[in-house]
Amino acid sequence: MKNPASSLDYKNKFLILGCGFSGNFFAKTIRQLGCTALTSSRSENKDLNSFIFDSENGIVPNNKIFDGVTHILSCIPPDKNGNDPVLKILKNKLTNLSLEWVGYLSTTGVYGNTKGDWVSEIDQPKPLQKRSQKRLNCEKEWIESGLPVQIFRLPGIYGPGRSTFEAIKNRKIRVISKKNQVFSRIHVADITNAIIYLLQNKDSLKFHQIINIADDEPCSQIEVIQYCYDLLSLRMPKPILFEEAKKELSPIAQSFWMENRRVSNKLLCKTLGYKLIYKNYKLGLKNCFLNS
Ligand SMILES: NC(=O)c1ccc[n+]([C@@H]2O[C@H](COP(=O)([O-])OP(=O)(O)OC[C@H]3O[C@@H](n4cnc5c(N)ncnc54)[C@H](OP(=O)(O)O)[C@@H]3O)[C@@H](O)[C@H]2O)c1
Repeated sequence: MKNPASSLDYKNKFLILGCGFSGNFFAKTIRQLGCTALTSSRSENKDLNSFIFDSENGIVPNNKIFDGVTHILSCIPPDKNGNDPVLKILKNKLTNLSLEWVGYLSTTGVYGNTKGDWVSEIDQPKPLQKRSQKRLNCEKEWIESGLPVQIFRLPGIYGPGRSTFEAIKNRKIRVISKKNQVFSRIHVADITNAIIYLLQNKDSLKFHQIINIADDEPCSQIEVIQYCYDLLSLRMPKPILFEEAKKELSPIAQSFWMENRRVSNKLLCKTLGYKLIYKNYKLGLKNCFLNS
């Protein structure tokens, strides 16, 4: 990650809004570069660099938190009414700051079902699910805010502490087989590193407002589960056909199986030159296996 031409250092103050799985990884990494990173969550915790922001309960950070902020990363999904929690509550505040950059973590769900075809940033989003339509509306609102925003569309996020290994350990695994169905995914470290790469090379790279961050190899869920069982030296349970399994799936779980797409990372990895740390699920899961 060290880059002598790095434009990121102690002079930069990041607010990470929504410090869950991805936000936390980002905050830790950006601090290692010498930047200040304050993080939000909805409840109090012992971290001195953390503050409370809860749009649903109207808990707003105090003004001091925003002093000297140069960069913001929002990792908060739309609220139950489809509003963006950050823009709903903090838009005026943010537009009055002198921000160099704002990042927004979105989802590749906005592309809808491509029946297994590749999809890229230049394709028109065709959200299938209500929640994806809400997400697309939030993306539009970020773009129209006039803030220097960059939107990152993400497929399934995994990493140490949140992967198929946890599902196996917690006996929440379902081995489902559906012909020709694939999923795209991304290791949490690549979300962070790709964003940092783009920031560090901001002056030399063309600015793209919407960027997919996905690995190179969309594949079936069975391949992923089988690989985990192999690493654990355990035998994978027999797959159940989707038509059988779906009766027991929650509506949200079913909805994921209704969409089949391969998310292209060509803009990020070919045009902009980012090199993935974990270019496929095998490399990424090996990292989870060794760190869980
Ligand atoms: N997980 C995936 O596979 C996936 C895939 C594609 C895209 N995404 C999207 O990418 C983003 C980051 O994902 P993630 O899995 O890292 O997120 P995550 O772990 O679920 O964290 C979400 C964060 O948002 C905060 N938050 C939620 N509602 C809020 C509200 N109304 N007001 C203030 N804060 C609120 C949460 O607060 P607390 O810390 O208090 O809970 C948490 O810190 C999210 O927008 C997610 O929807 C996720």
